[in-house]
Amino acid sequence: MQLHAASPIGVFDSGIGGLTVFRALMERLPFEHLIYFGDTARVPYGVKSVEAIAHYATQITEFLLARGVKLLVIACNTIAAVAYQVVDDLSPVPVLDVIEAGARMAVASTRSKRVAVIGTPATVNSNAYARAIHALDPEVRIFSQACPLFVPLVEEGWVDHPVTRMVAQEYLRPVLAEQVDTLVLGCTHYPLLKGLLQDVAGPEVRLIDSAEAVAERTAALLNEMRLLNPSRQAPRYTFYVTDVPLRFRTLGERFLGRALPNVHVVRW
Ligand code: DGL
Repeated sequence: MQLHAASPIGVFDSGIGGLTVFRALMERLPFEHLIYFGDTARVPYGVKSVEAIAHYATQITEFLLARGVKLLVIACNTIAAVAYQVVDDLSPVPVLDVIEAGARMAVASTRSKRVAVIGTPATVNSNAYARAIHALDPEVRIFSQACPLFVPLVEEGWVDHPVTRMVAQEYLRPVLAEQVDTLVLGCTHYPLLKGLLQDVAGPEVRLIDSAEAVAERTAALLNEMRLLNPSRQAPRYTFYVTDVPLRFRTLGERFLGRALPNVHVVRW
């Protein structure tokens, strides 16, 4: 299949949390056209079955491929954890994901070879981060913790709230007791908690933002494949969602750091 440098990159997530990845891509690759798909009608995925997530991921992949994307970025850790292979098998274009990118950055960061990974229950139960990290360095010890309350707390806007701090202290206590030096933020929502998590983890622990990691990987791959858009004009950003919930604008702006233009609703 012939890929074109001027084609858009397709980015997708279970909802609007993946806008943290979209934002990292906008900053790292300011001339690339980007199409975002957020399954806002069916979010959250993190507590759903592998079968359901794989089915949703198939629909989204087909939707984005039909829009002529040159590359797919799985922004959702949960989809990447349980359905990466489904997406990759379907896709004639390269597929990057937050887990592989975050794992690479974690391995490069750790000195003690003791790494903590936090994410949704689906991501943590899948062991996908552990597998990705071990494929790069089998000596790294991984301590995982599911943090299901973080997604609703971030969506409530409680990113610097005493309740969130208490919850974070509770969740992180067991992994911090393992003397980790690196903490992987294995969920789209967690980059918004970076300040609070850094406080709780302490200055010796390095936080890995998988959104930044995948933006870096995307830039490297496009460069390698000679697929960087040569145009220096303002790129097109298009957003597709499956529902427009009540607080969509406020939430979207919080994740993206700016207003959300060109939002289209897809009814399935
Ligand atoms: N996007 C999901 C993730 O990164 C979090 C929200 C959800 O559970 O769907 O794991």
